[in-house]
Formats: sequence, C-alpha cells, structure tokens
Amino acid sequence: MAAVLGIDLGTTNCVLAYLHNEQMHILADAQGQELFPSVITIGEQGQIWTGREAVALGATMPGRTAYAAKRLMGRWYSDEVVKRAQQIYPYEIREAEGGGVQLKLGSAEYKPEQISGLVLKALVDLVELRIGERPTEAVVTVPAYFNHAQREGTQRAAAEAGLSVLRLLNEPTAAALSLPGQGDTSRLVAVYDFGGGTFDISIIRIQGQVYEVLATDGDTFLGGDDIDGILCDRLSERFAEKTSVNLRHFPLSWYRLRDAAEKAKKELSHAEVCSIFLPRLVGEDALVTQLHRSELETIVRPLLERSLRICARTLQAAGVSATDLTELVLVGGPTRMPLLRTMVQEFFDRPPTSGVNPDTAVAEGAAREAAMLRQGGGALLLDVTPITLGINIAGNLLYPLIPRNTKVPVRREHAFTTARDAQTRARLVILQGDNTVASENNKLGEVVLDQLQGYERFHSRITVVFEIDANGILHVKAADKDTGEEHDLVIQDSFNAEGAEAVDSLEENETLTDAEPPSRATIAGPFRATELVDVLFFLHANQKSGRVDLKGPADTGSLWMLDGELTHAEAGPMTGLDAAALLLSLKQGDYAFFEGELRDGPAQLDSPFERLVGTHNE
Ligand SMILES: Nc1ncnc2c1ncn2[C@@H]1O[C@H](COP(=O)(O)OP(=O)(O)OP(=O)(O)O)[C@@H](O)[C@H]1O
Ligand SMILES: [Mg+2]
Repeated sequence: MAAVLGIDLGTTNCVLAYLHNEQMHILADAQGQELFPSVITIGEQGQIWTGREAVALGATMPGRTAYAAKRLMGRWYSDEVVKRAQQIYPYEIREAEGGGVQLKLGSAEYKPEQISGLVLKALVDLVELRIGERPTEAVVTVPAYFNHAQREGTQRAAAEAGLSVLRLLNEPTAAALSLPGQGDTSRLVAVYDFGGGTFDISIIRIQGQVYEVLATDGDTFLGGDDIDGILCDRLSERFAEKTSVNLRHFPLSWYRLRDAAEKAKKELSHAEVCSIFLPRLVGEDALVTQLHRSELETIVRPLLERSLRICARTLQAAGVSATDLTELVLVGGPTRMPLLRTMVQEFFDRPPTSGVNPDTAVAEGAAREAAMLRQGGGALLLDVTPITLGINIAGNLLYPLIPRNTKVPVRREHAFTTARDAQTRARLVILQGDNTVASENNKLGEVVLDQLQGYERFHSRITVVFEIDANGILHVKAADKDTGEEHDLVIQDSFNAEGAEAVDSLEENETLTDAEPPSRATIAGPFRATELVDVLFFLHANQKSGRVDLKGPADTGSLWMLDGELTHAEAGPMTGLDAAALLLSLKQGDYAFFEGELRDGPAQLDSPFERLVGTHNE
C-alpha cells in the first residue's frame, strides 16, 4: 500500500513525513537535507527548478524565483499584507482577475497555490523515487490562524500535485500529535510556533487520544522572514553610508544581501558575533561588516513582544493561566534563537519540552494522523475556528453564527427575519472577521433569496445554517420557510468574479435581522462511524453533565449525562435502555451537547458508562 503523507507546507520550508512499513520517515533530498525550501524558479524556456536548486538559481534570476508564496495564498490584491510582500520580495506581484494575486515569473503568471503545488509535486516525485510507489493521499498542515480562503488555496495546491487531502490539520495541533504519549494523564500544552512567515499559538488539552484545542490565535505576517527583512534594511543603510548606493534598485544584489542576512541571523543563534562579507555587491563595492547578537536582538525583541501579546490573549480566551500548563512546545526554525527561548520561557514560566524537533514536529504529527485516518481511526481532534464567521444583518452589523474559538466540526443554525415591510429580496453576505461592523470584515461569498413573499417585517422565518467540516471548510445553507426557497453554498473559490465585490456595498434594504436568541449548544457537529462514541467518551472522560441531542437519518432522541455517566435516554416513545441502545447504534447524524441541561427524576440507566457504550460499539 502506498504511503500516506504528512506534509508541513511551510512559508520557507516544506517537510514531508510518512509511515512506511510502520516506520516514521522524514523525506530527505539527495544531500540528506530534511528541509525542502518552498521555492521555485522558472527558466527562460519554461523549465522548472524547485527547492535548493531554485534557491541557488534565485541569485541569478531573482525575478523568476518565487518564495514565500504561502504568505500570498488566499489574499486580495488590495490586502495590506500584499503591499508589504511587494516591498520585501523581489518577484512581481500582480492583481489577478477577480481581485486575488498572481506572481509574475518571467513571462508566465502563477497563482500562489500553483507555486505551492509545484513544490509539492517535486516532493511527491521524490517520495515515489524512494519507495517505488506514487502516494496519492496526504494530511496537509496549515497555520491555525489561516482563514477560509487560505485553507482552500492549500487544498488546491495539494490537488495540483495530484494529492487528495485526507484532512487539513492546524500546525500547532499537528505538533501536539507528534508528542510521545503519556498514558491517560491529562496534559495542558501550549504550542508556540514561530515559523518563517507565520506565528501561531494554541492551547491544547490532551487526554489519551483526545486533543482538545481550548483556544488558538496568531499572526499570518510574523516570522523569520520579517527579521531578515529588517536586517536587510539595516545592512543596506550601512552600505549606503559608505557608497551612497541604494541596494533596493539592484535585485540581484538584494537577493545576495537577503541570503547573507538570513545566514548571519542563524549563525548568531550560537555565536555572539559574525562577519558579513559580500564582495562586488554593486560594481566594485563590497559590503564588509560585523553583526553582534545584541544588534540582532534589538531588531527581534519587538517582534517577540508582539507574539507574546498574542499569547496572553490566547491564554485568556482559553480560560487558563500560564501556571496551569504542563508543557511548552516550541516549533519553527527561529525558536532556536536564545532571546526567543528566554523571553518565551519567562512568559510561560517553564522551560520548553525537550526532545521536540522544531523543524519536523509538525510533519511528523501530520503523518501520524494520516496513518491513523487510513486505518479508519485517528485521534479525536476537537479543534476550534480561529476567526468568527457570520452574516451581515440590519444596521451594518455582523451576526456571528460561529464565534471564534468554537470547536469544529460544528453546525450552527439560526433564524432570521425580514427587517422591512414588503421585503421581497434578502442578500446574505457571508463574512469572516471579528469586527462587529459588518463591512470591516472579509467577505467569503453571498446567498441571495429573491422570492420572499413581501409580508410585513418580522413575519418571515429564514433559517441560515453554517457548517464547518473537519477540514475547516464552510458550508452555508439559507432557507425561507414561507416559500421553501433554499440555497446552498460551499465556499469554494473566494476570488471568483462574483465574490470580488467590496463588502461596503451592502444594501440596507436587503438585509435581514435576528429572529431568535442564540443557541446554547456547547459542542455540536455531524458524526459518522465511531465518531459518536468518541464524542461520548470525551464527555465521559471530562465528567460532563448535560443533554446530548442526536439526530440520525430515521431516529432522533436525547441522552442525559451526570458527571460523565449516562443517566437517561429517550427516543420517540422509547425510554431507558431501549432508547439508549437505539441511539448508541446510530452510525451517522448530528449531535449537539447542551452543558448543564439536566433531567430530573431517578436514573433510568444505572450501568457504568463503559458497559453501556461498549456493548453497542461491538
Ligand atoms: N538557528 C536559527 N536561528 C534563527 N533562525 C533560524 C534558525 N534556523 C532557521 N531559522 C529561520 O527559521 C525560518 C524558517 O522556519 P520554519 O522552517 O520553521 O518555517 P516554515 O515552516 O517554512 O514557515 P511557516 O511555519 O511560517 O509557514 C527562517 O526564517 C529561518 O531563517
Ligand atoms: Mg512551520
């Protein structure tokens, strides 16, 4: 059987891990290197070089060499981040049709995901060469803070390389999955992932095979590349002082400078001082200088402080304090910097867990999950949405259907109504963002209902369902109860022509308004195969009390729990053991757990949890 891959598709480097003959392998290139630069160079005749070769060629063809494409994935051309990227990267970034971005390399143009796809394809070729079979399936990781469009971009990149994605896994969760197990003791882990382009922090509770993300946050424009960028500015100032030459006007020289800056930064992780010597940088002029670790640290400190402010916010969102943590896991190349280690260690008040490889942990975790999914199992990942999802309602407000840090998979339903009398049309704009002003958020798409009956306001009932699947992809459904008019939308391509409209063109007379108080489900989502049992085990392990509503294709009912033990069951006319047996045998459907919703009266089910659930799981 061909290997299933775990792929860490990084801004700077890709790492690929796979289990073959039950052994974990990290793919190494011909030179034995495990980090494969996420870089491609397109030659004059359309030849394609990737990885280390592309990096080397970049020095002679900077305008034809693309790196850090991940930073541009799923972005609008008008995005502030794109403007910053245009300043620090030597290739040309153009506006694509529909408002996205395209990289111009020589005469050809590529979408960011096509660039990533080419890098991935080269890696898949290499695996095929090693094991004699071409892999077709993978678990691919993404920064936890990636939004919807960025996740889709990643899926398309994998498809370009001929891979079907078993699951998109958040990078910090993948890193947690790579940790060696410690039986059933409950652990509370902070994963601090400072990479080349993105910073992510997640607070994760691990109990057996259950990985529950309590909160996640990050910054998709904070990483080692930014340190290099600032370092280049400083070094070019020094060069200009001596020569009056602005290196920015010389792409080849700038490329060499960047390379030297990155090398110096790495060297200063173990040396106190390093020398930089770039002969003939422009004409006969050379850059000859020294860099002290303390100078680098002055540059890096504000960036690290920024990351720690995000950490403080995340701990608060998770409802825990640093002292509650049992482990601190550091991931990403820059976490080798002594100042970073000191500051992060001080902030979390503990030393980082040893034995974690900051380069390969994410890919290893992904490969483990891939192997488990292939066998039909897998850890129970209770991940969360990083950014709020909702729709616009009257008053240019965001109605959050799925608030940030909600567990996924999740399904949320809410009823809306018309905001004006005789309204025959409603335009629901699907938004992603945390700003209460609707037009300040990212627009993902829209659904238009144009057969409303035009009753007086507040009369109609329009049900909107948001469902996020295990990959973090959003499915939207809107239905008008009066006419039965229904529209489905899977947010596939956020940059299609229609989706490119600006958010601020919201028409007030087409908006809806809230029709009911928010739902109180603590966790909810669809289930298949043994997932229901996993959810129940999770509630049992955490000694939860409340009601679990279940909706299968034919049967519906509820189970009640008190301190993690099943006490009551009801399904139609059935109660007690019969109802429990029916509900526990459901193989697919939806569940919703309402914490604290208890049922009075003596318990109908008095067998221990394991016996009740175990009997129906065989
Ligand atoms: N010893 C070191 N000291 C400082 N920085 C380092 C060191 N080794 C690597 N780096 C930096 O780490 C960065 C790459 O890290 P990593 O490979 O973890 O990123 P990535 O996974 O590609 O990016 P991301 O996770 O943001 O998408 C580069 O900026 C590199 O210069
Ligand atoms: Mg990374």
